[in-house]
Formats: sequence, structure tokens, C-alpha cells
Amino acid sequence: MKRIIFILSAVCFNVLLLAAQPKKGQSQGSDIDKKVDALIAKMTLEEKVGQMTEVTSDVVSTTTNGAHQIDAAKIKEAILKYHVGSILNVSGQAYTREHWYEVVSAIQAEAAKDRLKIPVIYGIDAIHGVTYTAGSTLFPHEIAMAATFNRDIAYKAGEITAYETRASYIPWNYSPVLDLGKSPLWPRIYETFGEDPYLIKTMGTSIIKGYQGNDVGDKYHVAACMKHYLGYGYPVSGKDRTPAWIPDRYMREYFLPPFIEAVKAGARTIMINSGEINGVPIHGSKYMLTDVLRGELHFDGIAVSDWRDIEYLHDRHHIAATQKEAVMIAVNAGIDMSMVPYEYSFYNYLIELVHEGKVSMARVNEAVHRILKVKYQLGLFERPVGNPNDYPKFGSDEFRQVSVQAATEAITLLKNNNNILPLKKNIKVLVTGPTANTMRSLDGGWSYNWQGDQADKFAADKNTILEAIQQKIGKGNVSYEPGATFDSLKNVNDAVKAAKNADVIVLCLGELSYTENVGNIDDLNLPWAQTQLAMELAKTGKPVILVLAEGRPRIVTQAESRSAATVMTYLAGNEGGDALASILFGDANPSGRLPVTYPKYPNSLNNYYRKNLENGNSDDSHSYNPLYEFGFGLSYTTFGYGNLHLSKPNLKANETLTVTIDVKNTGTVEGKESVLLYTSQMYASIAPDTKRLRAYDKISLKPGESKTVTFKITAKDLAFVNDISKTVTEAGEFKIQIGDQTQSFNFISNTVPSRTGRL
Ligand code: BGC
Repeated sequence: MKRIIFILSAVCFNVLLLAAQPKKGQSQGSDIDKKVDALIAKMTLEEKVGQMTEVTSDVVSTTTNGAHQIDAAKIKEAILKYHVGSILNVSGQAYTREHWYEVVSAIQAEAAKDRLKIPVIYGIDAIHGVTYTAGSTLFPHEIAMAATFNRDIAYKAGEITAYETRASYIPWNYSPVLDLGKSPLWPRIYETFGEDPYLIKTMGTSIIKGYQGNDVGDKYHVAACMKHYLGYGYPVSGKDRTPAWIPDRYMREYFLPPFIEAVKAGARTIMINSGEINGVPIHGSKYMLTDVLRGELHFDGIAVSDWRDIEYLHDRHHIAATQKEAVMIAVNAGIDMSMVPYEYSFYNYLIELVHEGKVSMARVNEAVHRILKVKYQLGLFERPVGNPNDYPKFGSDEFRQVSVQAATEAITLLKNNNNILPLKKNIKVLVTGPTANTMRSLDGGWSYNWQGDQADKFAADKNTILEAIQQKIGKGNVSYEPGATFDSLKNVNDAVKAAKNADVIVLCLGELSYTENVGNIDDLNLPWAQTQLAMELAKTGKPVILVLAEGRPRIVTQAESRSAATVMTYLAGNEGGDALASILFGDANPSGRLPVTYPKYPNSLNNYYRKNLENGNSDDSHSYNPLYEFGFGLSYTTFGYGNLHLSKPNLKANETLTVTIDVKNTGTVEGKESVLLYTSQMYASIAPDTKRLRAYDKISLKPGESKTVTFKITAKDLAFVNDISKTVTEAGEFKIQIGDQTQSFNFISNTVPSRTGRL
């Protein structure tokens, strides 16, 4: 078929990636650049390489009988001998704000003794709130944030996190994760905004704006760190930090756009993917770290390695014969700072490499320039430690309410047979299952410590699912029998017996907290014991409300087929228990939508933006057939969609298509509705995706109320990356789908096709 192809006027992908407008903080760029240059001119090679060295808190601390403190001799060695520019992480578990003050003050006091008095930049994984400070406001993880489809909540959560991170005297946050949560096997999917590039980029830029504000240097904002650049989320095996195969075209179509937008939004730093793609470890990829990141994206901030990843170029990836060669490869590829993080070999090797001419002084100066510039932008030279009195709202009820709202809007109602939910408050409920009574299944990893295994201690004042239900309807109405641990049955007969005296069973299945490789699995099915528990309880004939508290969509098909209602909480954070209880008993109306496809079978893990070939036909019944689709979620009210209207039948380049749709609350209670706009290109030179999310909005409607939602679509929104890695919009027919409404239009181009000659 003859098709006219329009290559965006800018034709070249590079040109699409115009540099971001500078934000405040960056806007003083030239002044800061001059200061930085002046400082660099005074620095010795040792001082420069020290700035590029980041060590973990344990290197400068001692912990005796659980009491952590900065060790005078070790910090002296780090700063005065190695001129270390950055320290990260927590030693052991969360500190109080007061302890963070002592820690950061001791570090900065030592930095002030060094010849040039350059402050240290402290970094932390405040990835769903400031995770390592006791009493902080913990939000839902990114996967749940994405389920809200509410950018404002992401922005507010970012703002509060920044406030509380600065209240912990830390100016640098290793967040957000902008990885594509494409594979449910990957243990870090809960740290992502789900499987869709548009959802990731919109939620990602919202949270970055919240973190950085208009002036990243004020006392309430922090530098964001986009991670993990690039292609981390899709290892072939599904296991963390194992090889991925991702063609350049796919990389640019699905993985790169969130980073492009985040750079435009002004993100100050980036962390690199620990994995290897097509055999190339990203920490050694000059193409990724310099040609694409700097040449195309025009990113001017700090590129920090991930944990030990330079060393791993030798130890794990075997692309460097020695540790020293690994340092040479990584720094020459474009790494500015090494998260070493346990010792000083990076420092010693890099100095030798510069002396030997294997790494140029220009490359070192470039890296140090970026590091010092961010330190200036963060205001660290004037204010190396914040003022404890500046943060009265830390852990406040005002902040908690935002987390409540986020959890409430995230929790997703997937099934509600005969409107069994909401439940009445005067019924007898059996609460059962391994996730019912632990904060670990609400907070997940990165909560109070790396693995989140201290959540029940640190969040003891927060309600587990069981406690929240008890509080909601009174302890007398609630019985509790766990019935199973995460992977084995435990007194299942007691649960079955208790079910007989209950009106309803709230069965809480899912996962315990885990982080990174600790969360690797060999089987996407939930452990069999959990399904067995579901089957035993179903035999009682009592209605089962299945609650899934989990970081990724584990296969639950058998258990789920026996439930009367199914609710997904993801990792909804400290307020997740209360938010769930409010939804179960009708004090809140659910409005979450799945940000990932929920698979039905372990061998059918398609994303919603599958190819048409995966849609199956009469000869093929084993294609795309998820348990629940991306974007799916029910409410206690109903919404009617009508009057889908396009402003024109034909869209040309440089024109805007205005799309309107009327949404009406046709039920009896107030509700929020995420209105999702998908486009499908009917035919294109690359097999088009079946559909793609291009816009969304979240509205609130009273019973009987209608609103008209308006979206603007341009040629750019319809573009894809073609087989020569160019971003193009091809002429032809498109379908728009919102709710159950569809309309078609044509994209028209007068531009002569200029493709590569392939038919
Ligand atoms: C993780 C990063 C994290 C870093 C520092 C690494 O293991 O991959 O996401 O920011 O540790 O804690």
C-alpha cells in the first residue's frame, strides 16, 4: 500500500530534543559557571577527583550497639585525605531528624576544614517520601502514584518529599525512577510509574517539579535524580540487573521519552542503569552517556553511577580486564561521579589514569564543573546544613492528608460482583491472609531501611489493613486469622472456622517488602499456599473480598476467580490501610486505574500497547488476554461517555486537533473519573501499536453532573520512531478512543516522502 510519509519538519530526532528552558537556579547559569570555573582553577587534581568520588555513610561511621555516629578519624580521612565530594545512604535504619542534623553537621564541619571548603553533597533515596527519616510522611510508591492518574498529587507528594528531605538536611534525592515498568517479573516495577511511556513522563515531570520547585536552591527543594538511564526495566530474564536486549528503535520509542521530558523539566542529576543492553553495560557506553545524553538531550547536570557499577564493569560484566581499566572506560564514557561506594580505589585509579594520559584533564574538569555547579545551585556553599527550626510541617497532619488522598485515589477496584462493595459497617468480617497485618506489605522496600523490613517498628502508629478495618467498624465486628504465611499454610482450619461465623471474608494476599535483587522471582504466580487459602475459604460459600497488596501484578487467576470483589492496593504507603478501609466501607469512592496490564497467565505478559499481531484471530486464542487491562478500574458510581467530537476530520502538521467528550456521573454517589485518550494508527510503515495513551485528565463529578473534557492533539503526539530511528508522523487514518467512544480522523501531509527506500 502506498503511504505518504511525513517526517516532522525537524526531521532529525536530535532536533526534537531541544534543550530545556533554564529554570530558576539554572538561570544564574553564567554567574555560577564563572564561580565554578574560578574554583576549578584553584583545585589540584586530587581535589577534583575527590569531588567525583561518592562513598556510603558506613565508610565514615561507626555503629556500636545500634548507636550510629560519624567517626572522627574516618570522616577526616574521607574529606581531608580524599576530598570526597559526596556521601550517601543511611547506616542501618532510619534516623531521627535530630540525628540527621548531627550527621550532616559533622560532615559539613569537616568539609569546612578542607583547603577549599567545598561542601559535601549528601544523597538519599527519598523515593516515596523521605524514606530514611523516622516520623516522615511516607507516600504510596510510584506504581500506586501512577494509578491515581493525578499529576497534581504527584506534584504535591514531590513538594512534601522535598520539604522533608531538606528537613533531614539532605539536598539530593535519588528519585524519580523513570524506568519503563514493562515486565511484571522485574522486582523494581513498584518503583516505576507503570508500563506506559506517556504516563511515566507526565507523572515523572510532575514529581520533579515538586522536588525542585522554581528554585532548587531554596530551603524547601532538592535536586531530583532521574534514574536509571537507560533501559533498566526490561531484563530478558525479568531478574534485576541481568542482560536486556533492546533495539535502538524501541529504546527511543518507549524508554527514552520520560528522560527527554525530565531533562526539559530541569532535572539536575541522573543515575545510570546498572544493566547491560545488547551486551553493552551502560556504565561503559559512550554512545548512551555522551552522544545521546549530552549530544541529543543536552543534559548539563551530574551523571552519577549506580552502586559499585564501575567496579562491576570488571567483576560482573567483564568488559574491563582490571578495576583501573573499568574506571577509565566509565569516566571516558561520561560518568561524572562514582558511587564507589565502600572504599577509595576509584580515587587512586583515576589520578593515575590522568597522569598516564588515559583520561584527559578536560574530561575531569567537565565532570567537576557539573558537580560543583549543582552544589552552587543547591545553595550548599551558603547553607551547607539547614536550620532545624525551618521545618515545622515535617510529619504534620497537613502532609499526611496528601498521602491519604494519594492512597485513596490509587487503590483500584477491579471487580465488584453485584455491588457487594461498599460493605455495611454493622457486619461481621473475617480478615485473613499474609498481608493483612503488616506495614511491610503496604510500604514495600525503601521504607525505613533498604528492604523495608523494619516498617512494623517505625510505622507502628500507622494502621495495617486489619487495624484499619477494626478501627472502621469496631473490633467486636472483626475476627482475624492469618491462615497462611507468604508461602505456606498456617492454621488454615482456624481461618475456615472463623469464616463460618463471618458475613464477609476480607482475604489479603500479595507480597512482603523487598528491594532490588532480593525481590527476584522464578515464578510470577503467587506462592501456591496463598491460592490454597483462597480456595479453602471460597468453599465456605462466604463472599470473599480479595485484597492484593503487592508491588507487581503477581498471577492470582485461580484465587481471583473465586472472589466476589477484588481490590488492588499496590504499595499504598503508610496511609494505605486506612484508605482501603474507607473504600471497603463506603467512606471513599475508589478511582484508581491500573498503570500496568494485570496478566492472567504467566506466559502471556503482553503490555496494552501490544502489536495488532498479538490480538489473536480465530485460529489463535492464546494472544493478548489479560486478567485486567491497563487503565481499568471501577467506581461505586457509573460514568457515561458521549458526544466525542473532533474539531476537524483532517489534521495537518502545525495544526491542533481539539477533542472534546462529555462525561456524566450516571450513578448515585460522587466520584472521580480518569478520562483516558488513546490513539491508534490504522496503518504505518512500522507495525503500529494497537493503541497508545496520548492524554488523560482526572475529574470529579457529583451524581447527575456532566463535564466536557477537552484535549489537544498535534502531529507530535502521533509520532513514532521508525526503522531508521527517526521520530516521524506518517500520514493516514487514526482512531481516537475515549471510554466506549471512538472517532476517526486523517493526518494529512503534503510533504514528499523521504524514507529510506525500503518498500
Ligand atoms: C539502586 C539505586 C539507588 C542506589 C543508592 C542502588 O542499588 O539501584 O536506585 O539510588 O542504590 O541507594
